[in-house]
Amino acid sequence: MPNNKFNVVSLIRRKRDGGNLSKTEIQYLIDEYTKDALPDYQMSAFLMAVFLKGMNDEEASAIAYAMLHSGKVMDLSEINGVKVDKHSTGGVGDKLSLILAPIVAAAGVPVPMISGRGLGHTGGTLDKLESIPGFDVNLDLTRYVEVIKKHNLVFIGQTEDIAPADKRLYALRDVTATVECIPLIASSIMSKKLAEGIDALVLDVKHGSGAFIKDPEEAKLLARRLVDIGSEFKKDTVAYLTNMDQPLGYKIGNWLEVEESIFCLQDEWPDDVREITLLLSGSMIQQGGRAETLDDGIEMAKATIQNGSALKKLRDIVIEQGGDVAVIEDPGSYKPAAHQTDFTAAKDGVVSAIDAYQVGMASLELGAGRKEKTQPVDPAAGIVLRKKIGDKVKQGETIAVLHTNKEAQFDVALELLEKAYVVEDKAGASRPLITHVVDAGGIHDFDYSRVPALK
Ligand code: URA
Repeated sequence: MPNNKFNVVSLIRRKRDGGNLSKTEIQYLIDEYTKDALPDYQMSAFLMAVFLKGMNDEEASAIAYAMLHSGKVMDLSEINGVKVDKHSTGGVGDKLSLILAPIVAAAGVPVPMISGRGLGHTGGTLDKLESIPGFDVNLDLTRYVEVIKKHNLVFIGQTEDIAPADKRLYALRDVTATVECIPLIASSIMSKKLAEGIDALVLDVKHGSGAFIKDPEEAKLLARRLVDIGSEFKKDTVAYLTNMDQPLGYKIGNWLEVEESIFCLQDEWPDDVREITLLLSGSMIQQGGRAETLDDGIEMAKATIQNGSALKKLRDIVIEQGGDVAVIEDPGSYKPAAHQTDFTAAKDGVVSAIDAYQVGMASLELGAGRKEKTQPVDPAAGIVLRKKIGDKVKQGETIAVLHTNKEAQFDVALELLEKAYVVEDKAGASRPLITHVVDAGGIHDFDYSRVPALK
């Protein structure tokens, strides 16, 4: 039965005309929509009004609160320690969760990780984990708690009980052109993360060609909003702004990224993956109370790699969640995609730019991502880069190797890579990878000299 406490049309009209809604009014809209008492057409109109007119701080925290409480909010207080999670706004080749979660758990900080699937040109942690034969991300919330207790770590997908309003609203935003809206993105992310039962959160907010929010200034606004919501809910929340001007690491695709993550846990890292993983891990270890300073946290993260405990943690969680540990122990035993082809340089020069969005789309075309929500992904499909920004190339030299089980897709993927790679006589100036840090005190430039352990 609809609850007619408010006139929905007048709420939409007020937002449309640039006015503000109260906490109770926002709560009403979200509650009614979650229980199917408000039709999609009215919620769509409301979302578009928010997209066009924005939300003030009170409205943004009210919508996050309403979405968080639309479902179950986990209580993990029976588990000792400060529970810390990480969220990335998504990028190409961003496999950091697979590496940092075992590192942080091995350092003694519980990591309850609820992740998502690939979205558009970006990959998703769940699809990557599911490329490990047998790995089950569909644990119920009782098992979720049991596994964290046992291993300090769990990887699951969003359940029906966690932030159901977000699940419905996200699907609607996706088809009403209202995704790219800071208060809506922030409430969507934070409602899911806060429902996990965490005490602290680190956020990797990306900007650049491979990010959803390409403009660094917009990314700062998003980071600020995310941190404000976290602080308001009394969670220790820190965001780092990082540059996604080219894919992270060398491997893009579900299994290919798991494979690269295993190598990182064996201390064989691409520089960019190492830098951001150590930063975020160090922050989580510090937020989890195991290190006094960020630098100490980073040193502890390095120790878990060097003493093998982080890799062991990945092995243990794969076994616990039903995965085939043989492919973790011997990644070379994984069945590769049936077809591979090289993308080669058209001329001599230096790689001066890589449009990470086009690389992500090429990987999607090869089968690593989805064009429609229900489409299955190909675990073995993807791209292995041989050249990144600043590397010299000779005409005919391999720049990247494409992997797919659908050979017919090579042409479109190669065309996208041609658009993505720019080869010039010399490379331009490179931008730093970590640009800013945002905490409850505001936005600061990231100062590498204050974090010597990152070197
Ligand atoms: N990721 C989310 O979880 N929500 C958004 O709105 C955008 C990205």
